[in-house]
Amino acid sequence: MTVSTAPQSDPHALAQALSGHHLIDGAFVAAASGRTFDVVNPATGVVIGQAAEGDAADVDRAVAAAAAAQAEWKTVPARQRGKLVAACGARLAEHVDELGRLIALETGKALRTESRVEASVLADMFVFFGGLGSELKGETVPFNPSMMTVTVREPVGVVGAIIPWNVPLLLMAMKIAPALVAGNTVVVKSAEEAPLTVLRVCQIMNEILPAGCFNMLSGFGPECGGPLVAHPKVAKVSFTGSVETGRIVARAAADRLIPATLELGGKSPMIVMGDADLDRAVEGAITGMRFTRQGQSCTASSRIYVHESVHDAFVEKVRARVDAMKMGDPLDEETDIGTIISPQQLEKVKGYIEAGRKAGATAITCSRMPKDPALSKGLFLQPVVFTDIAADAPPAKEEIFGPVACIFRFSDYEEALAAANDSEYGLAATIWTKDLRTAMDATQRLEAGFVQVNQNLVVQPNLSYGGVKSSGLGKEASLESMLEHFTHKKTIIFNMT
Ligand code: NAI
Ligand code: MG
Repeated sequence: MTVSTAPQSDPHALAQALSGHHLIDGAFVAAASGRTFDVVNPATGVVIGQAAEGDAADVDRAVAAAAAAQAEWKTVPARQRGKLVAACGARLAEHVDELGRLIALETGKALRTESRVEASVLADMFVFFGGLGSELKGETVPFNPSMMTVTVREPVGVVGAIIPWNVPLLLMAMKIAPALVAGNTVVVKSAEEAPLTVLRVCQIMNEILPAGCFNMLSGFGPECGGPLVAHPKVAKVSFTGSVETGRIVARAAADRLIPATLELGGKSPMIVMGDADLDRAVEGAITGMRFTRQGQSCTASSRIYVHESVHDAFVEKVRARVDAMKMGDPLDEETDIGTIISPQQLEKVKGYIEAGRKAGATAITCSRMPKDPALSKGLFLQPVVFTDIAADAPPAKEEIFGPVACIFRFSDYEEALAAANDSEYGLAATIWTKDLRTAMDATQRLEAGFVQVNQNLVVQPNLSYGGVKSSGLGKEASLESMLEHFTHKKTIIFNMT
């Protein structure tokens, strides 16, 4: 079966054409078992295609292809590898609209506010890392005057990458772009809910990269992700997903004594001081909470601590902003908010909303369910803002991964800071104030991997990204992350005596 690599305008036809395939050694192949599973449009409940159901036999085949390709790929000069990766970025940029439509169809994320944006960041990530080939430098070491001692950066080998469904394009790019530039080859296991768009990206990149450098498998976690981590030829694993699965992956990597980078969950705090520019802070809460992504973000600013002097005004402004957002067909350009990814996720999020109500919190429900009968089976959920919620109520403490924000009132900075740090997570945090001393103090004392003052930017190329505490191990998206996680340092001594 051939699938054209020219940009496609109809995501339904593209989903059909991509159905039932892994991509191994530069070619589309069916699962060894012949099995497939359905890919569903969460906005309608309609099956849009099938994914190949991978298992250990497919993993074996993909890893063998990646290992064979790596022997060649590591000998390609680093700048040349970078140029090829940058060329993938340029090619993907021509597919932004196509990839945006396909990811919107698969995940229910709105095209204008989320899906197209994600596709363009994907392309940018490849262009950024593609420029870093010549930064894979070693050092000279003053060990002994009669011995020339140097270090060189070598690739680790075959990288196994396991990705989730919430922002699969961006999260995949943050792994494979640096891995490839550093001379590794990769096998990606996509998320069950979002296998087709990443397969399309892999196909487009395989037109530029040598066969076997980038392989893509779809399948379920234990049956396909498990064998990938356990495979004797996989030298490194890079995982993004839940804390629970992260622990399973880390244990399996420990058994094999291979390194694992883990980007896990979050419950990120935002502290709004009484002197903050309130409108800016409100915008920060809207972007930070990812309301346009139905809150399905590990970085979501889901705990918002607001000084009592501005609390009520802040809550009202947030309510009005979210309430004005339009829920609807993800492919409609007017839609701000799409759907939750799956029925299980919808139930989980609803459970948290119920738990918050039971704990006596005030639930402010925003926006309106879409009226279009074609969307009657869609997994839509009105965003909820909780106020006056107890710090130990489940929605206030646990990662919800849904459009639910908790706003707390505080009177004293120290109290807010202590509450912000009282979490098992530590991915991101923000502080909003005009007072330089408070800002400085907070940036030093907030326990998080990414701290911002008076803004709430998302992941940016070349800013190290990753959490502390249960939010994960290791950084992504930067030059240092490429060097630390996708190379090892070899020490070489020339004895000239
Ligand atoms: P998950 O962590 O189970 O899935 C992420 C990836 O891991 C998927 O590709 C999955 O197939 C794979 N996986 C699952 N079990 C595996 C195993 N035993 N060995 C190897 N790979 C395995 O996340 P899931 O089930 O989709 O969502 C559950 C919760 O996780 C969500 O409600 C949310 O709270 C959180 N989550 C966090 C994400 C993040 O970016 N930090 C992303 C997705 C979910
Ligand atoms: Mg799971």
